[in-house]
Amino acid sequence: MHLTVSARGPLRGSIAVPPDKSMTHRAAMFAARATSPSVIINPLTGEDCHSTLNCLRALGCQIEEHPNGTWGVFPSGWISPEIDLDCGNSGTTIRLLSGLIAAQPIRVRMVGDASLSKRPMKRIVDPLVAMGAQIHGDRTPLEIHGGNLRGIDYVSPVASAQVKSCILLAGLGAEGETWVTEPAPSRDHTERMLQGLGVDVRRTSENRVGVAGGATWRGFEFTVPGDISSAAFWLAAAAILPNSEVTLQGVGINSTRTGILDVLEQADAEFELHNECEQSGEPIADIVVRGRPGLKPFSIQGPLVPRLIDEIPVLAVMATQCQGVTEIRDAKEMRVKETDRIAVVCEGLRSMGAKVEVYEDGMAIEGPTPLHGAAIDATGDHRIGMAFSVAGLVATGETRVENADSIATSYPDFEKHLNFLTGVIT
Ligand code: S3P
Repeated sequence: MHLTVSARGPLRGSIAVPPDKSMTHRAAMFAARATSPSVIINPLTGEDCHSTLNCLRALGCQIEEHPNGTWGVFPSGWISPEIDLDCGNSGTTIRLLSGLIAAQPIRVRMVGDASLSKRPMKRIVDPLVAMGAQIHGDRTPLEIHGGNLRGIDYVSPVASAQVKSCILLAGLGAEGETWVTEPAPSRDHTERMLQGLGVDVRRTSENRVGVAGGATWRGFEFTVPGDISSAAFWLAAAAILPNSEVTLQGVGINSTRTGILDVLEQADAEFELHNECEQSGEPIADIVVRGRPGLKPFSIQGPLVPRLIDEIPVLAVMATQCQGVTEIRDAKEMRVKETDRIAVVCEGLRSMGAKVEVYEDGMAIEGPTPLHGAAIDATGDHRIGMAFSVAGLVATGETRVENADSIATSYPDFEKHLNFLTGVIT
């Protein structure tokens, strides 16, 4: 399937963005390890989260998806599945589940799609093996024989919430304490959620966290906030299209995720937070963003990078419309996402007429540049498909996003929301 976008706008209207992907995965996994049933309200029903549900089912857990959108999770002791666990396109599924599986006396083989099979797993295999797990492979298929883990004090070479969470989750079933130190703080949903379940999570600094082995928790109810990484497409699109005014309702604004708001401030974009409150231990707000001409360029580097890692593709699109040179550095992690996002973003933007310089760890983008439509392939990377749809909104001619099905990974209603916000009735 493809998506055709041409210059449209301004964007106007109010929408609830999809539920947070990171939190939906975690809520389902933690419910599957609880000692009694749980209810997950407003889960993301995208393909990535279904990969997690299907893996949990294969591990012996019963999960009901109700017509009103809630999920009921009925845990049981985990079993060695008869089938391979198919993690699809989802890095969070394979990396977090590996940690939980490694702590159980079971044998599991985990596989994924073509994109996932290229992504590095050594970053979780090394610490899990050091904890005592037996693992074959450092890419998919990953064969894990878990059980009898001991705690570890691990200094991670990457600021990655997936790596940190994997090790902490393994640590919950290990003997003794498990600590993880990161080069910069990554998203902390695992820590917050576990703390909310009564698990003793210790933070000695913002990038060092530990748990003790033997933790158990009861079933729970968790309401998933809106995903700021999905809101990002409308934040950027509305900011660059003058006269836009968009309200994004109930968005998670955990400070480990709000790097994009720092960038909007740097760019002098107009936005406000309303109705700030807490939901299931996470801060949320409605975000109102308005478009204006003459946005400033911005700089992304250092500890800001993990706070907006998934938003860089659309922020690069925004940079093409800012007045000057935007620099993105220290973002080498982008190269090991669903695609090599540095290469794909730079190539795609160039094909639309943008002035882009590629670095090993980022890019420089000189704006403002009038973009022209092009064909962009979104195979295997939902965020590339959505970022270039936004580019199509400010480009002359038609932008054709090929293989746009991948967008359903995290944002099944993206096209519907695009049409609604741009006033197209379908
Ligand atoms: C995620 C963490 C990030 C992010 C991914 C989801 C998570 O990956 O890119 O989309 O749910 O923990 P890293 O932590 O590996 O950077």
